[in-house]
Amino acid sequence: MSGASMLLLRSSFFDRLSSISFSGSSAASPFTARRSFSLATRAVMVTCKAIRIHEVGGPEVLKYEDIEVSEPSEGEVRVKNMAIGLNFIDVYFRKGVYKAELPFIPGSEAAGVVTAVGPGVTDRKIGDRVAYAGKPMGSYTEEQILPAVSVVPIPPSVDFATAASIMLKGMTAQFLLRRCFKVQPGHTILVHAAAGGVGSLLCQWGRALGATVIGTVSTEEKAAQAIQDGCHHTILYKSEDFVQRVKEITDGKGVQVVYDSVGKDTFQGSLDCLAYRGYMVLYGQSSGIPDPMPISAIQSKSLFVTRPSMFHYTATREELLATAEEVYENVVSGILTVRVNHKYSLSQAAQAHIDLEGRKTTGSTVLVPESI
Ligand SMILES: NC(=O)c1ccc[n+]([C@@H]2O[C@H](COP(=O)([O-])OP(=O)(O)OC[C@H]3O[C@@H](n4cnc5c(N)ncnc54)[C@H](OP(=O)(O)O)[C@@H]3O)[C@@H](O)[C@H]2O)c1
Repeated sequence: MSGASMLLLRSSFFDRLSSISFSGSSAASPFTARRSFSLATRAVMVTCKAIRIHEVGGPEVLKYEDIEVSEPSEGEVRVKNMAIGLNFIDVYFRKGVYKAELPFIPGSEAAGVVTAVGPGVTDRKIGDRVAYAGKPMGSYTEEQILPAVSVVPIPPSVDFATAASIMLKGMTAQFLLRRCFKVQPGHTILVHAAAGGVGSLLCQWGRALGATVIGTVSTEEKAAQAIQDGCHHTILYKSEDFVQRVKEITDGKGVQVVYDSVGKDTFQGSLDCLAYRGYMVLYGQSSGIPDPMPISAIQSKSLFVTRPSMFHYTATREELLATAEEVYENVVSGILTVRVNHKYSLSQAAQAHIDLEGRKTTGSTVLVPESI
């Protein structure tokens, strides 16, 4: 599917929604958030529920509160979120590992319906099904304001939960496998946390690209999922020496690339698993930030080390659309099976964080607003 045709995708349901006008009366709206006019500004304010963080800390700092969302300004749209993606980056912000100005609404991924369009926006209309990932943070809410250039259309055959699971994690898998290091047939790749949100997609897509995929996981159940997702070999890295096992599997040659999202606990071992001129792609730090590394650590095998971010690989509108398009193509064609393994109501975000940090989740997790 071309980029142009992707942009034209619309479902008949949303064509019908687009004809609904918003008069300020909630009775006239198909949506449940409360709307009110401010007489001073004549702006329509939407009162809705959101998760807000007033101080960084444990899951208990995720507070379920009323917020007001304004009309979109120039170049913006307002989106009613139907499903919100849960990501490990949300944990980093909640804990203060990554900094944000307090108070803030966490979350960097969601899918929903456009409910208002600001001045100057010509390529989005009320009722469009859209998704976004990355900036601005603030997706743990029933409605949010987004720059129109940040959202992409959702293909009609893709549901909201899938779209909210695939934007951040799927685009991460895309840039990791196709651009950060280009996986080719014949490569052997090592994927840590292979049953996780990003890990599940890396395994499926890596195999489809012709690679031999080795995945590390913490439990037998997660190993079974990783095998279903295309892993040729799984390693229980809590009980097995993963470096030794990789050497056995590759006849001592090592792998061309390691996709390491675990960080502190695996970083050194990951370097040891690499073949000559191998790529160490450290893209996350679920176990903590790795210790500093001397240059001599990469000299002995002429290794490459990168610490990439999806934000830098989807920085322009063109990159964002091309990346999302490739992800959705692979979802629609069946190359990627999106595992939406867990759903929580938005008010239960704290429990979702507890489970994600506690390594209890597999695949993707979405938060669903109570009003849906
Ligand atoms: N650089 C980027 O642009 C980018 C974009 C998206 C995501 N990420 C990173 O990708 C990683 C995966 O994100 P995700 O949202 O898909 O999460 P996830 O993989 O579903 O969950 C994290 C997994 O990491 C493993 N893990 C190992 N040690 C852990 C520890 N001490 N505490 C918690 N988990 C641990 C667990 O799997 P096992 O039980 O199998 O060990 C756990 O299920 C995160 O590190 C995230 O920051 C980076």
